Amino acid sequence: MTALVDQPVHAPASPFTRPRSRRPDLRRWQDGPTPASLADLLALTREVAAEVDAGRHAVEVDPVQRWSRRLHADPHLDVWLISWATDQAAELHDHGGSIGALTVVRGALTEWRWTAGSDDDGTCPAEELPARGPGLRRRALAPGRSVAFGLGHVHDVSNRAAETAVSVHAYSPPLSAMSYYGVRAGVLHRTRSELVAPGASPE
Ligand SMILES: [Fe+2]
Repeated sequence: MTALVDQPVHAPASPFTRPRSRRPDLRRWQDGPTPASLADLLALTREVAAEVDAGRHAVEVDPVQRWSRRLHADPHLDVWLISWATDQAAELHDHGGSIGALTVVRGALTEWRWTAGSDDDGTCPAEELPARGPGLRRRALAPGRSVAFGLGHVHDVSNRAAETAVSVHAYSPPLSAMSYYGVRAGVLHRTRSELVAPGASPE
C-alpha cells in the first residue's frame, strides 16, 4: 500500500487549538483517552472533505489496494485521505483505544457494523435487518455522509459501486492498535490484534 507520510497541504484545525469555548469539557473523557469528542472528529472530517472536494488535496487511486495519505498528524489526532477502487474493502475491525469519524467525499461506501441489538440509529432498511438481536447492520454512506466511531465500534467498510470512492478519516488518539473479527453462527469473534505503527495506513 502506498502510505505516504508528508507535510499537510493544509493542516486542519486541531480541537486543541480552537477557541476556549470549544475546548472539550470533562464529559469528553468518557469517550476515551482524548479530549476530542466524536462531534469534533465529525466536524474535522467534514471540514477536510470540503477541502478535498475543492481540489486542495491530490487524490490517487491504486487499483490493487486502497490508497491513502496522511494529511495531518499531531500527538492527539491524525487525518487520512483514502481512495477506494471498486471492491476494495477493510476487514471487520475495531480501532483499539481510538475514537474516529469519516466523511465520504465522493462515490459511495458501504459499512457493516456490529450492533448489540436492533437497528440502533434507524438507518438500516427493514429488508436488511435480520432478526432483532446482535448482528451486523449495513448502512450506505453516500457522498457528504459522515459517521463516527466510538470506542468498541466494530465495522468493515467497502466500495461496492463502479465509481471510485474517496473519504476522509480522523482518529484520536492516533491509531495504535486494532483488532480484527469474524462472525460465526451469529457470534462476533476476535481473530487477532495488531499494533499499528505510527503513520501506518488506517482501516
Ligand atoms: Fe475503521
